[in-house]
Amino acid sequence: MRRSRQDDFTLQGLPPINRRAQCRLTRRRTEQMASLDWTVRALSVDDGPKVWKLIRDAETLDLNSPYTYLMLGKFFAQTCMIAERDDQIAGFVSGFFLPESADTLFIWQIAVQPSQRGNRLGTRLLNALWTAASDRRPVSYLAATVTPNNAASAALFRRFAKARGAKCAVEPCFPLQSFPGLDHEPEYLYRIGPLGECRRPADQ
Ligand SMILES: CC(C)(COP(=O)(O)OP(=O)(O)OC[C@H]1O[C@@H](n2cnc3c(N)ncnc32)[C@H](O)[C@@H]1OP(=O)(O)O)[C@@H](O)C(=O)NCCC(=O)NCCS
Repeated sequence: MRRSRQDDFTLQGLPPINRRAQCRLTRRRTEQMASLDWTVRALSVDDGPKVWKLIRDAETLDLNSPYTYLMLGKFFAQTCMIAERDDQIAGFVSGFFLPESADTLFIWQIAVQPSQRGNRLGTRLLNALWTAASDRRPVSYLAATVTPNNAASAALFRRFAKARGAKCAVEPCFPLQSFPGLDHEPEYLYRIGPLGECRRPADQ
């Protein structure tokens, strides 16, 4: 009997899926596997110098003083995480709860080392931080500011919203003139939520 092309993609007991969907699944799985090589854990004060270097090498981010990253490790460790392996850092995410809106987790900086980008490590860090933070207190919204030309960052936050069926509202936040003397784009505020009823996908 002649097999149809679709039969080739029919797994036992599962409905047929087309070649493009299969390729997408395979690619996503490979990316996720690469990101799983890294251990994601809470930031500590000793990580400060390495995080400073990661942000310096990310190039697109504002580089703050080394003191800033020490302070995050010392006083904001519950809302900051890194991805590490063999003493190397491949990713970092920092956040804090807004003082005036305690159920909003603001993501300040998120960065993945250039050679590891596109492997879902950014997604994994963001998921891990949200999961850890919402284990401590209810998190109804996730917020971040993004510049108009940062397609990767915009996609990262939109994907986070989409995975949870949450809205992602975007509004102007810091205009051009907020950055005197700097060649800096304006920043737009992304506000994702409400997240209260959203399921938590497995760490990916
Ligand atoms: C933003 C950043 C952290 C994303 O990390 P990452 O590990 O590469 O992202 P992921 O692999 O988890 O991808 C998340 C989403 O972004 C998309 N994406 C990744 N890189 C992209 C790019 N260069 N252009 C467009 N979309 C991109 C992915 O396709 C995915 O979306 P999808 O699921 O809809 O396909 C990383 O690009 C980075 O470190 N950039 C420099 C620092 C920065 O700009 N940080 C954000 C501002 S604080």
